[in-house]
Amino acid sequence: MGDRLKGKVAIVTGGGRGLGRAHCLALADEGAKVVVNDLGGEVDGTGAAKGPADEVVSEIKAKGGEAIANYGSVVSYTDAEALIKAAIDTYGKLDILVNNAGILRDRMVFNMAEEEWDAVVAVHLKGHFNTVRHACSYFRQMWKEKKQGGRIINTASISGWGNMGQVNYSSVKEGIIGLTRTVALDMGRYGVTCNAIRPGAATRMTWTPELKAAMEKAKAAGVTGAAGAGMGDIASMAPEMVSPMVVYLATDAAANVNGQAFHCAGGRIELEALPMIKRGIYKEGIFTLDELDSILPGTLLAGLVNPSPAAE
Ligand SMILES: NC(=O)c1ccc[n+]([C@@H]2O[C@H](COP(=O)([O-])OP(=O)(O)OC[C@H]3O[C@@H](n4cnc5c(N)ncnc54)[C@H](O)[C@@H]3O)[C@@H](O)[C@H]2O)c1
Repeated sequence: MGDRLKGKVAIVTGGGRGLGRAHCLALADEGAKVVVNDLGGEVDGTGAAKGPADEVVSEIKAKGGEAIANYGSVVSYTDAEALIKAAIDTYGKLDILVNNAGILRDRMVFNMAEEEWDAVVAVHLKGHFNTVRHACSYFRQMWKEKKQGGRIINTASISGWGNMGQVNYSSVKEGIIGLTRTVALDMGRYGVTCNAIRPGAATRMTWTPELKAAMEKAKAAGVTGAAGAGMGDIASMAPEMVSPMVVYLATDAAANVNGQAFHCAGGRIELEALPMIKRGIYKEGIFTLDELDSILPGTLLAGLVNPSPAAE
């Protein structure tokens, strides 16, 4: 138990299971009072239960920490407002917001139902906006009144770089990176930092029976590191391994870390570069198609590989 977050109040959305649960326990271990938000639904977002949030609150209290449960959905603008208010009403303030709640509705783009797209956009992208929106109006007011800043840590995914069968999920996860960078710019002047992690860990979301079976098959065939999407051996990546960086970003030591994205999985923590222009062709005026025909293959497009070439 440390005291890096002594006197601080934190909210973790989706704090009842997996990564969120690990973040709650790690924040409490450093002295933060924690509001454990969790709707308690299935991986696909259906259903609801109080058990997951309640259990994490009990775990924190059993270790001598302070925590309360909140069962609202981040999809709801008013639930998100009530969540921020619950922290302030119960503990007198809010210092740290960890946006982590998430669901999956994987499907190839040509089969994806509108509802599957909407559900994932609602939980991840709108869900991040909802809590950030209400936290930021509070943080801005607190900065004006007493120079009290804040911390926001968002949850993206390396699926945002592109992952087959996850058009909804990869779209919102990259959207969360854009949201993070813009909130960092909007809120920096009010003493607030906003950063994102792209985590990797074995949870019910990732370490599925299907993946386990695929890994076994791959192992039997002598293939290693076959978990997909660059995740390496996900079985050995505990959610707790991601949480120290979340806690660090919430501490005073990270006061000037703002607008960044970190890939955190197992024993790796990597700083992501901003997407950069790789190369260009330039002209005063408009390129003709004839010019593009002759210039592009040997310059701008030289060496590019199609990640998904047409089937034979
Ligand atoms: N596990 C990984 O390797 C991995 C990789 C990349 C990104 N992520 C992201 O990390 C986050 C946590 O994922 P996890 O692997 O711990 O999954 P998980 O399913 O174990 O936990 C997600 C939690 O979010 C809660 N939740 C879902 N919808 C909610 C809503 N509308 N309101 C409040 N709570 C809600 C669920 O009840 C659940 O407890 C997600 O945003 C996920 O997309 C995870």
